[in-house]
Amino acid sequence: MNTNYELFLCTTLLVLVFLPCYRADPDPLQDFCIADPKSGITVNGFACKAARAAQSSDFFSSALRKGGSTDNPNGSNATRMDVTVFPGLNTLGVSMNRVDFEEGGINPPHVHPRASEVGYVAEGILYVGILSTENKLYSKILKAGESFVMPRGLLHFQYNMGPGKATQFVSFDSQKPGIAFAPQTLFGSKPEIPTEILAKAFRVDADIIEYIKSKFQDDCSSGVEAA
Ligand code: GLV
Ligand code: MN
Repeated sequence: MNTNYELFLCTTLLVLVFLPCYRADPDPLQDFCIADPKSGITVNGFACKAARAAQSSDFFSSALRKGGSTDNPNGSNATRMDVTVFPGLNTLGVSMNRVDFEEGGINPPHVHPRASEVGYVAEGILYVGILSTENKLYSKILKAGESFVMPRGLLHFQYNMGPGKATQFVSFDSQKPGIAFAPQTLFGSKPEIPTEILAKAFRVDADIIEYIKSKFQDDCSSGVEAA
């Protein structure tokens, strides 16, 4: 066997073995599979309604036409358009959010366990950042018309520097990317993470942790719907 051929074989093998690790949702096995939320069948995703029953309206959503209220401690709101509000997305491996910000509003540091995200600024000026697993911050100030990508599983955030409001449209390579906000997850979980663990982890006294926890009790005001 000549060396080029061996190299080709090895590379192909490596790609075939490792490629699935870099994909988000699985590939569809039919043209479409409109989710049937009423089906009692439990599968990875949602069961399909009969293909012959599909209508044009199943491929349409106006979910992102308007943003929700930003009157909350974050000064932001994420309106979801994932498979739970747009059943036509089922099995297609895509979804979107619209994020509206008051001036000074933030989308707190969070991760999406099942998707990479690419965000396009429609209005305003956003400071956005991602953190690598080596604790390096990659950040940029984005103006309207500009985009930034958030690799799957990496912590990221957005901040509206102003002046004025800002709106960003983000898309995901998953029908349901999921979301975990670092502050709420750590300080507002139910049941709570024991204070002594957080005090040790954050290298501060327990009363500081109790104080922060008090800010996240019954926190339905983050302005971002649960995943
Ligand atoms: C923005 O980062 C979002 O996840 O909606
Ligand atoms: Mn995000």
